[in-house]
Amino acid sequence: MSMRLIDLPADDAHLWLEPAVHTYVTAMRYPKGTEFNRIGLWRDHLRRPGWRAVGALTTVSAMDLLRPGHARLRVEAPWTLEREVLVGVAYGYTGYPDQWWNRQLRTGLAGRGCSREHIEAVASDYFELTEIHVHPLAQGRGLGQALLTTLLTDRPESRVLLSTPEVPGEENRAWSLYRRLGFGDVLRHFLFAGDPRPFAFLGRDLPLPPTPLPADAAPTLAR
Ligand SMILES: CC(C)(COP(=O)(O)OP(=O)(O)OC[C@H]1O[C@@H](n2cnc3c(N)ncnc32)[C@H](O)[C@@H]1OP(=O)(O)O)[C@@H](O)C(=O)NCCC(=O)NCCS
Repeated sequence: MSMRLIDLPADDAHLWLEPAVHTYVTAMRYPKGTEFNRIGLWRDHLRRPGWRAVGALTTVSAMDLLRPGHARLRVEAPWTLEREVLVGVAYGYTGYPDQWWNRQLRTGLAGRGCSREHIEAVASDYFELTEIHVHPLAQGRGLGQALLTTLLTDRPESRVLLSTPEVPGEENRAWSLYRRLGFGDVLRHFLFAGDPRPFAFLGRDLPLPPTPLPADAAPTLAR
């Protein structure tokens, strides 16, 4: 399976957004239909300051393209090659206090008794990693790490923050990836308004140190 990473242009979102959200819903094992209410949110995010998205494309056989799951990942865009599908996506933008996620973080920190100065220091000057997903077909090859390190390259912010569901023993690929790349705890077991699942906020300073990849490493950004 040959793979390449590309910047996903906001102006071409009509070409990649549907396969990207399909990858997200499949990776998160959300029920079918979730994409319909999520796609609008992803589209709104395109206009946020500092927005950037990176995608992973892989070539598949002509036979594979006939399979229903693959057909939904197909991207018809000038920057795709024949028989490429989108199997990974990561995006984020600069965090600001007028954003819901930022307000949730501030509320959570205040609820734990953090000082105003601490909250201000944590919840300013950061890049929010909003989404990172690799289709189950392509997981376990270092693609998530390649997407994340590429997305975080040359950011102007001092830090990166993210939120991820709490899982027992931190035992899933998302937690392994974040810990491997040096993300530390910012706020644990937080309940977002309207969601019963506990989440962790994690973060680390930017830039990321160079992360050595093995010889069979996942691809770097192709332009
Ligand atoms: C979290 C997620 C994006 C990570 O992506 P990934 O490509 O599966 O994982 P990584 O890039 O971290 O790759 C790590 C795995 O690849 C293997 N690997 C193979 N080649 C590698 C390479 N060159 N570099 C790094 N890891 C490599 C590692 O050994 C490791 O395998 P293991 O998990 O079996 O130990 C992906 O698993 C996913 O979409 N999960 C479901 C959705 C989700 O949880 N999203 C995040 C929500 S906050």
